[in-house]
Amino acid sequence: MRGDESFLHADTGVTSELFVERSLNEIRFWSRIMKEHSLFLKLGFRAEDTQLIQEANQFYKLFEQIEQTAHVLTNQTDPERIRRFNTEVQQAATSIYMFKRKVLGLILTCKMPGANNFPLLVDHVSREANYFRKRLLELNEGKLNALPDAIIKENVFFLRIMADHAKFIGHLLDPSERKLVDIARNFSNDFDQLLFQAKDLESMRPQSQTVPLLDQFLDQNRVSVSSLRDFKKTARDLIEQCRIKSIIHPLLADHVFREADRFLEIIDMFDAHLTSSTPQPGNSN
Ligand SMILES: [Fe+2]
Ligand SMILES: [Fe+2]
Repeated sequence: MRGDESFLHADTGVTSELFVERSLNEIRFWSRIMKEHSLFLKLGFRAEDTQLIQEANQFYKLFEQIEQTAHVLTNQTDPERIRRFNTEVQQAATSIYMFKRKVLGLILTCKMPGANNFPLLVDHVSREANYFRKRLLELNEGKLNALPDAIIKENVFFLRIMADHAKFIGHLLDPSERKLVDIARNFSNDFDQLLFQAKDLESMRPQSQTVPLLDQFLDQNRVSVSSLRDFKKTARDLIEQCRIKSIIHPLLADHVFREADRFLEIIDMFDAHLTSSTPQPGNSN
């Protein structure tokens, strides 16, 4: 077990500073994301879905408050206060997760004909909520993932998220934007392949967890994520300037751009930790 090297998790006592910093970093990023999901879901409901619209509005306000609190608290805040905050936010993330799954159920049983949220998008945003709540639970429990395990787990999660984004963009662009739809489809294929590669590496654990293999894995993923991030940035700018035809909300374009940027930061952090340490091949769990 190489807990001291895991940037994602707090080590009890010794790294309470890291615990506070990581907790606030996760909450600041993901609470804004959850707030925006509430808006996107609301925009996809039908006018008569008043109850669901109201629930979405409540989640918007809840995560807006959480986001504000997370910006008031600082890295010097008492870790106990952060621990309580994490629990509170974790409960909010669990509630929005359940709300999203309820909406998914309604869509898949054809109870909302004519609504405009793709089932995969609702599933996707529920996976992000689940990731957020699990991250907070792990932080509070001081659970430590070995670095090689964390690397594979995070990449499997985020590669699927990126593959989904490419599919959403491809489907929400106007069909007449043939060139851009093509580019989006290529990204979708690229990330589907990367996801399968990541799953192969996962099934070959722990033998696959050598420094050269993990390093190459991160490098290869970084290349694709950074070009997808640039594509999203371009799409966002074009949408904001009303230069392309789509039904993509400008905030959604920015939202998926920020998520790609987050993934890149995580890849870079892993890379820095991997090269600054020398884990033994197969040293996991
Ligand atoms: Fe999201
Ligand atoms: Fe996403």
